[in-house]
Amino acid sequence: MITIRAARTTQDLEECLRIREEVFVGEQDVPLDMERDTLDSQALHFIALADGQPVGTARVVLRDGGASAKIGRVAVRQSNRGFGIGKRLIAAIEETPDLGQVRNFLLDAQSHAQQFYARLGYEAYGEEFMDAGIPHRHMKKRNGRSVAFD
Ligand SMILES: CC(C)(COP(=O)(O)OP(=O)(O)OC[C@H]1O[C@@H](n2cnc3c(N)ncnc32)[C@H](O)[C@@H]1OP(=O)(O)O)[C@@H](O)C(=O)NCCC(=O)NCCS
Repeated sequence: MITIRAARTTQDLEECLRIREEVFVGEQDVPLDMERDTLDSQALHFIALADGQPVGTARVVLRDGGASAKIGRVAVRQSNRGFGIGKRLIAAIEETPDLGQVRNFLLDAQSHAQQFYARLGYEAYGEEFMDAGIPHRHMKKRNGRSVAFD
């Protein structure tokens, strides 16, 4: 059974950071001192559990005075990919009550994952750029729950 919820405890947060380290540092060679940053202390972190075991994570940071929510550090353990966990992590973020009034969800997709986000309604904009040695595209999606006008 898959459960997605906000990371509430220190132990939850440690599990999120462990998954990120395994995926971004271990698999993708991102330096640990880039992988963890000062935004972690203000972010809302999410954890995905499969039968109670931590298998995925993502974080959200508010931007533009709360008008946008920037999704990042989306990671699912390698052996758990392809079962809809990443999709459910993004859906859980988009449905979070506290994010109901943000106008846009933003993210910087690794280019290889652009189609994963496109399937979920995200549109790419701007040129491809490099971050931590990995090609990325900016992507965004309008929050269907927001009643705010542009
Ligand atoms: C990208 C990632 C989070 C996807 O997680 P996942 O749990 O495997 O994805 P899901 O099983 O929920 O896939 C949802 C849909 O996207 C598709 N998809 C998943 N990864 C994809 C990819 N890299 N490219 C294209 N489509 C992809 C799936 O086929 C599925 O399609 P469907 O809904 O038609 O069946 C995962 O591969 C991962 O952690 N990768 C390493 C870290 C990373 O690169 N993170 C992204 C940083 S921007």
